Amino acid sequence: MYIYDNLKNMIEFTPNFPLRQYNTFGIDVKAKYFAGFSSLAELHELIDDKLFMKHPSLILGGGSNVLFTKDFDGLIIHPKLEEINRIEETNEEIILKVGSGIIWDNLVEYAVLHGWGGLENLSAIPGNVGAAPIQNIGAYGAEIKDVIDKVIGIDLSNKKTCTFKNTECEFGYRSSIFKTRLKSKFLITHVVFRLKKFPHSLITGYGEIERILEHEKERTISVMRTVICNIRSSKLPDVKTKGNAGSYFKNPVVDIEIIEQLKKRMKDIPVYETPEGDYKLSAAWLIEKSGCKGIRSGNAGTHDHQPLVLINHGNATGKEILELADFIKEKVYQLFGIVLEPEVNVI
Ligand code: FAD
Ligand code: EPU
Repeated sequence: MYIYDNLKNMIEFTPNFPLRQYNTFGIDVKAKYFAGFSSLAELHELIDDKLFMKHPSLILGGGSNVLFTKDFDGLIIHPKLEEINRIEETNEEIILKVGSGIIWDNLVEYAVLHGWGGLENLSAIPGNVGAAPIQNIGAYGAEIKDVIDKVIGIDLSNKKTCTFKNTECEFGYRSSIFKTRLKSKFLITHVVFRLKKFPHSLITGYGEIERILEHEKERTISVMRTVICNIRSSKLPDVKTKGNAGSYFKNPVVDIEIIEQLKKRMKDIPVYETPEGDYKLSAAWLIEKSGCKGIRSGNAGTHDHQPLVLINHGNATGKEILELADFIKEKVYQLFGIVLEPEVNVI
């Protein structure tokens, strides 16, 4: 390791950096260089440095939505801005500006403890705040777009600070402008959230939530957080013991004509109508029906309880996971004519 000191601050560019602890799949790869930053001044130093200018770069938060298929021949930039600032507060709501390096679930816990509603259904999603708008994280009937006021960051092509209002972020299902047009071009430094004080509007319509709540004495954001955490830990594998990146594929959004054709062949196929009036199929169901639930090929496999989650059983390489993903994709295509799209960012 060497320290690059340019008098003002100190940025460490660590060469040959092992990434196994920095991706939840637990893939054993290295980066040519790795650098973290803890302030905006450090970030500017980092992107003014010749190492940044000479190499391709990748922004890495918690590494819970990436699959490394080989060593990264460039510079990994790891945001460590850990601040939560109250920007505005009324009797009804609070506006928080949150640094990209805060662990997402720590923010959810903090909001719930303070009685600020809006994040509770997104409890226990791994990763950091800076990545949360990238794919508009969603779970149990909620999406982060519903509580985001603004996204602030640096345009890496001209190093200027830019602010995107919610309506400018082009949020969609597991998508935003930051995952499409601005992919790898915009570094999110802060996310501004608008959270609600009491009374809260709980979202209880997903799956078994309403049924579980019937057994609870009260319906609060704190109870919701506990319910969601319990459902998640019963369904999803713990990344500490089985490397994974959550859902590997997105749920396919299709036209009504395709739904009608599929229903003729398979009456029980689950179909969900989205608030936007689209139709979503369950990728987990399609994968299970294609015979790929709980399968294993070498060190790669699919989870026994949720086949949409691909797993590293031990020392899987990124290529092994990718090959399994391609195999599943092919099986689903052969049986249903549906092309699964990855949710995970393949590097
Ligand atoms: P990373 O994996 O580090 O990065 C993801 C992408 O964002 C990369 O392209 C990266 O370059 C980019 N990026 C990261 N930080 C920044 C930044 N500051 N500025 C610009 N670009 C950036 N997702 C859901 O939506 N819902 C779920 O219910 C859910 N459940 C999960 C369960 C498990 C067990 C796991 C492992 C993952 C799950 N995920 C879920 C996926 C993942 O947790 C989210 O996508 C999360 O937001 C990724 O955060 P991260 O910090 O780990 O991002
Ligand atoms: N299903 C099966 N077999 C299974 C599991 C599920 O057929 O083994 C079917 C069932 O019909 C079930 C349906 O899939 O009703 C939905 O399952 P689940 O509630 O587990 O949700 P999902 O659609 O598989 C999505 C998100 C998750 C999110 C949950 C809860 C995507 C790609 N995935 O999964 O997000 O946590 O809903 O809201 O949208 C992630 O993005 O990484 C992620 C984990």
